[in-house]
Amino acid sequence: MFSLQNKTAVITGGGSGIGRAISELFAKQGATVHILELSKENTAATIAAIEATGGKVFGHSCNVANQQEVVEVFNKIGKVDILVNNAGIAHIGKADTTSEADFTKVFDVNVKGAYNCLFAVIPLMRNNGGGAILNMASIATLVGIPDRFAYSMSKGAVFAMTLSVAKDYLQDNIRCNSISPARVHTPFVDGFIAKNYAGKEEEIFEKLSKSQPMGRMGKPEEVASLALYLCSDESGFITGCDYPIDGGFIKLNN
Ligand SMILES: NC(=O)c1ccc[n+]([C@@H]2O[C@H](COP(=O)([O-])OP(=O)(O)OC[C@H]3O[C@@H](n4cnc5c(N)ncnc54)[C@H](O)[C@@H]3O)[C@@H](O)[C@H]2O)c1
Repeated sequence: MFSLQNKTAVITGGGSGIGRAISELFAKQGATVHILELSKENTAATIAAIEATGGKVFGHSCNVANQQEVVEVFNKIGKVDILVNNAGIAHIGKADTTSEADFTKVFDVNVKGAYNCLFAVIPLMRNNGGGAILNMASIATLVGIPDRFAYSMSKGAVFAMTLSVAKDYLQDNIRCNSISPARVHTPFVDGFIAKNYAGKEEEIFEKLSKSQPMGRMGKPEEVASLALYLCSDESGFITGCDYPIDGGFIKLNN
């Protein structure tokens, strides 16, 4: 079950955290993995880990916010069976404390970046007889999280794009779903704690862990397992759905 043999998978932001765990698992399951990344260092580290276990992987230096770069990379890859729109950035702020520049930056990566990859991949999948697309949303898509105005906006858009794409390409055998993780322990989380809560890192880490009723953050590998299911043929009857993976955050936090 869950074999990805003979499939080509594109993972954006596949060099770190959740994207890296997905890249490693998909390669282990037999996929040829293409990582689209801003960070050459992160890409090289993930490629080394995958190659060490005999997996097939290619890295592409690419800013997902730049449509021309994205289209060029996808056309070079040519045949794509799976796209995981995972690259994303965080931002802390409320509506009146989010600058226009920060709002635009979050929009460009998290929303336009996902759109650019959809724009480039759908013609390839259609020519190939179908495909599976997975977008990385967030619990911020579904519930109000304090101080996450721009980030929540972007993840709400990711979910809306998921529904729209799932509907528009039913006849093309292209499925599209999303995952909404609560806090997952990755460099993304460590980075924004360091940037926004300098000197209070341990306290904030503890607080963020306890905001999940299970009392801990998720692991990137746990998100990767759900991603594998949603991108494999075993989930062939699922499209237009969002899957929270949240240690009870949405339903049990009362
Ligand atoms: N970690 C969490 O708690 C959490 C929770 C919910 C949702 N998510 C979402 O999961 C996704 C991955 O998060 P993570 O925690 O693994 O992050 P991360 O910061 O560990 O990794 C993100 C990767 O994306 C790359 N990237 C950033 N901007 C890019 C761009 N413009 N073009 C190409 N690559 C780019 C970075 O270089 C990095 O390697 C994000 O979309 C994030 O919003 C994360």
